[in-house]
Amino acid sequence: MLSEEKNRLLTEVGPDKPMGDYLRRYWHPIAGASEFDDKAVKPLRILGEDLVLYKDLSGNYGLVDRRCPHRNADMSYGYVEQCGLRCSYHGWQYDQSGQCVHQPFEETLDPGARMRRNTKIKAYPVQEKAGLLWAYMGPQPAPLLPDWELFNCANGFAQAVFAEIPCNWFQCQENSIDPVHFEWTHNNWTTRLQGDEGPYVPTHLKLAFEEFEHGFVYKRLRGGEREDNVMWTTGRVTLWPNGFFLGHHFEWRVPIDDHNTLSVLWVLSRVPNEQEPYVQERIPSWYGPIKDPATGRWITSHVANQDFVVWVGQGAITDRTREKLGQSDKGIVMMRRRFFEELEAMQADPAHEPKGLIRDPEKNRDVFLPSACRDEMINGLPRRELAAHPLLGPYLKDFFGQAGQPDEVRAAYEKAIGQKVEGATFFKVHGAGVEEDARKEA
Ligand code: FES
Ligand SMILES: [Fe+2]
Repeated sequence: MLSEEKNRLLTEVGPDKPMGDYLRRYWHPIAGASEFDDKAVKPLRILGEDLVLYKDLSGNYGLVDRRCPHRNADMSYGYVEQCGLRCSYHGWQYDQSGQCVHQPFEETLDPGARMRRNTKIKAYPVQEKAGLLWAYMGPQPAPLLPDWELFNCANGFAQAVFAEIPCNWFQCQENSIDPVHFEWTHNNWTTRLQGDEGPYVPTHLKLAFEEFEHGFVYKRLRGGEREDNVMWTTGRVTLWPNGFFLGHHFEWRVPIDDHNTLSVLWVLSRVPNEQEPYVQERIPSWYGPIKDPATGRWITSHVANQDFVVWVGQGAITDRTREKLGQSDKGIVMMRRRFFEELEAMQADPAHEPKGLIRDPEKNRDVFLPSACRDEMINGLPRRELAAHPLLGPYLKDFFGQAGQPDEVRAAYEKAIGQKVEGATFFKVHGAGVEEDARKEA
């Protein structure tokens, strides 16, 4: 249980709030690079700020204020130039740093362009990595954008999957350190959604949580598992400050504002050894629906959607003055405590270096994170073994990560893995991860 005041500390993300300031010290994925294959300008809201992301005619990305500093026109209706974005009202043009580089009528009257030189629009740096566009909205100098090892894994088919979730980011991130929910939100609920009454999967017996540089590792042991099970020896990573790393995929919960979160999944499917060498030319990105238009209810068929349902069900900003934490919530308590310590340290000393930032380029190559399937991702497996692998095998059957995968993404994936996926798989999540259930007809 937390006081209202402490709950606000964790959940408020605007620029003038302690957590808003803290989260701005990190790079955040805000869009897919492939979104700019057929458009140049995209309005978005991140950390409570209305912004415009664009790709100019030179192929450079920029992120600027939604409002033009001249007379507040909407920059999402601006048009890109060789360098930067031009407002469609009076043609003022801004480069990536936000500097005004053309002010047509003013410069005609004053060729010295004194006013132009003094005009800037708010702008943030953007980088492309792993098919994602990342923004840094904090003070300079910016840390390095982490080069996680999985981003560089060869012979994989990656996809970036987005959804806008109408609730606060912190309850989404608490789910990254909540092993027991797998049993009930994914395994057993899926069983019931399929119309079965059971049997339920073996229950959790032991949990362990350990802090490390880039977050926490959680470990779990379930009924029938031995202590050499990878989920007990290696576990999974609660990635600081707003991510989750599961060996073959990442999840990030990027605050749109206090009441909305951009869910970002980045999933790498290792192709079978028989398909090597495989080089992916373009990482696709797509947005999945979260509501079933037929019923108006949340979609429950896919893993991430099941998570979305429980997050939004907690309320737009869950009321942490009304909760009853138990032993299963030990990791959540540790994570909250760590955030409070960080926020206090920042308040005491604005120069405090936030947890896990990488500034040394030497250390930013293939940054290691504990993974229960690292060898398999790096070396791959023959098709038969891959199909039988408890974590990776189900991906040969269906994309069960999130509802709404476009046909063209599925087709590109089938080409990469050299086989058809059967689709509409019913699945079940077991101790070591996701395992296919006995196939049923829909
Ligand atoms: S409002 Fe943008 S140029 Fe005038
Ligand atoms: Fe989950």
